[in-house]
Amino acid sequence: MNSNNSARRETTIRDLIARQKPGWSLDQRFYTDPEVYQLELDRIITKNWILAGHQSQLPKPGDFRVIKVANESAIIVRNKDGELKAFANVCRHRGSLVCLEQSGNKRKFECPYHGWVYDTDGNLLAARNMPDDFDKKSHSLHPVSLDNVHGLLFIAFCDNPPSLEGAKRDLAEPMAIFDFPNLKVAAQKSYPIAANWKLSIENYQECYHCATAHPDYAKMHTLMLDPAKRERVQGHMLEKMESCGIKNLFYDFIDTKARPGEQGYGYGRTAMFEGYVTGSRDGQPIAPLLGNIKDYDGGASDFSFGPFSFLLAYSDHVVAYVFTPVDKDHCQCEIYWLVRGDAVEGKDYNRDELMWLWDVTTYADEKIIVNNWKGVNSRYYRPGPFSGMERAESIYVDWILQQLRA
Ligand code: FES
Ligand SMILES: [Fe+2]
Repeated sequence: MNSNNSARRETTIRDLIARQKPGWSLDQRFYTDPEVYQLELDRIITKNWILAGHQSQLPKPGDFRVIKVANESAIIVRNKDGELKAFANVCRHRGSLVCLEQSGNKRKFECPYHGWVYDTDGNLLAARNMPDDFDKKSHSLHPVSLDNVHGLLFIAFCDNPPSLEGAKRDLAEPMAIFDFPNLKVAAQKSYPIAANWKLSIENYQECYHCATAHPDYAKMHTLMLDPAKRERVQGHMLEKMESCGIKNLFYDFIDTKARPGEQGYGYGRTAMFEGYVTGSRDGQPIAPLLGNIKDYDGGASDFSFGPFSFLLAYSDHVVAYVFTPVDKDHCQCEIYWLVRGDAVEGKDYNRDELMWLWDVTTYADEKIIVNNWKGVNSRYYRPGPFSGMERAESIYVDWILQQLRA
């Protein structure tokens, strides 16, 4: 692309951002324009941390998982010294994906194309029939940024991602309540969604749709209520929570607490309707209580880490949601269900029952997101005003615009 074209492109996207009305849904081009998506890849998707699982998924040297986000693929592996490492899954010979498996255990990664071999530190060990003076040391796999926040693993496809220190510091206390470092992944499932990635996350940010789309969820969760109407049941939980071993803490939404250069994060706990103590089919206990929690307070805690990763911590299990783009028109929701590290499947919890609520809820979300996407693509689509129940979505959309403007 010549510089004239790229200058014109910058101006048009800048105009589009300037025209965007605060408190209204985004202009169609934010969802459909390939140039906007390219800008998102450069400024958002490869510049922020993305939840990539829990440390318990890689207990032994050689254990690895492959994480795909948009055009990128990373191998996360525990090396022979027991440290976690992450590399771009891109061969230093001619760029083939090196590891085609999703997860497993390996001492070496051999590229399927011409057989170059890498160790679990990403060093090139062997390259067949290369000249004698070929320097293997300068052909290691490119490192991908990796960090561990109290047991949760995050990756970022850039060298200088925002700092996670704020999240580590301020979320230490709420994460200790649920003993995050010692949880284990009881189940994991991918939900492909044929829609632009922002529509999926916007949908997760609001519960205006919950009453219409999620009859099961709406029976137990009070987020669908106006905050004023929620007060009584919230008060009931607040009275109980300290004696249940759950401290009353609250941090507001994305980026409002983070300092400059830090990744945004948030935490809050919301009461469930009376008679429901956790996110199970009948609202009754479904797994052993987490951490040092002594009893059910009837609440569920929301955590957020950056723009793609959200967790819901019930008293007896945690559900983690990661929404990532596949391309401009497709995204993926990856869900992890976490329980106490010492809980035994079949005895302490039933995997299908554990997954039930968020499995049905996510399939219902997929339907409404795809319908939303179809309508947004129409020539008749025009941005519409957010309701008061879409405040978090409105903040999210503003944040996206800020990143694109930067
Ligand atoms: S591309 Fe990997 S060995 Fe050739
Ligand atoms: Fe939903």
